[in-house]
Amino acid sequence: MATPIIELRGVNKSFGPVDVLHDISLKVGAGEVLCLLGDNGAGKSTLIKTLSGVHKPTSGTVLMDGKPVVFASPREASDMGVATVHQFGGTFPLMSVGRCFFVGREPTKRWGPLRVYDRATANEVAVKAIQGFGITRIDDGDRLVGGMSGGERQSLAIARAVHFGARLLILDEPTAALGVKQASHVLRIVLEARRRGLAVIFITHQVTHAMAVGDHFAVLIRGALAANFRKGEKTREEITDLMAGGESLANLDVETQGVMDAEGARASTVA
Ligand SMILES: Nc1ncnc2c1ncn2[C@@H]1O[C@H](COP(=O)(O)OP(=O)(O)OP(=O)(O)O)[C@@H](O)[C@H]1O
Ligand SMILES: [Mg+2]
Repeated sequence: MATPIIELRGVNKSFGPVDVLHDISLKVGAGEVLCLLGDNGAGKSTLIKTLSGVHKPTSGTVLMDGKPVVFASPREASDMGVATVHQFGGTFPLMSVGRCFFVGREPTKRWGPLRVYDRATANEVAVKAIQGFGITRIDDGDRLVGGMSGGERQSLAIARAVHFGARLLILDEPTAALGVKQASHVLRIVLEARRRGLAVIFITHQVTHAMAVGDHFAVLIRGALAANFRKGEKTREEITDLMAGGESLANLDVETQGVMDAEGARASTVA
């Protein structure tokens, strides 16, 4: 197998006495999508934060292209090609599309003795990059990001990451707040990023979204890797159960019924 773009070997993360991640080993290669699954509090966000320079692992190693790396900050991770897109795309509602695309990396032009922001170039490059991902409705770089849909904002954030040379794209629940059509847009863009050879880590609670894009699946339960499998190795039902924290949904139904029965009993006592 080719050297993975990103690899974790025996990564642990504790916050003081609280152990959040236990001995995580994972790899993602170029042109692969890893879906990271797990219930609330399983450690998914903590894991991606240790990959994007927000946290340092307490122990264990992160390797990029086979070489150990330690990111001192999110900026350092980003400079090395790790792009993290948070929910709502980390975009700025009051900025224009062009501004937002180039934030922190603005192109400039000469204006007499000065260098000023080159709005025309920024707008042209940003619109071209976004349209390159199939979002042809964005044709004006002066448009405010606040007026774009959630899916379009996600698309802008992903297009920006790819444009600036990201090799690992991390998406923390990018489709969580989106409707069906918007979500399918974002999923298509994830597939386009994969086609362009990026490694992608995709977090979602929606089994349909996971199955639509995932080549590999990793399931975290209470901070440990409970399952690690390839597309086609598990059924939709098995994946759904794993996403619910390893408990069968049949068990959860029983629990839910218990809660409802208790509630019913309380209501009748009050009455
Ligand atoms: N800075 C911190 N200090 C102490 N505990 C933390 C810290 N960050 C996260 N945790 C704990 O680590 C556990 C995992 O949290 P994390 O946010 O990684 O979960 P998650 O899988 O992303 O959940 P969700 O699906 O709800 O987003 C939680 O119990 C959380 O309280
Ligand atoms: Mg999270």
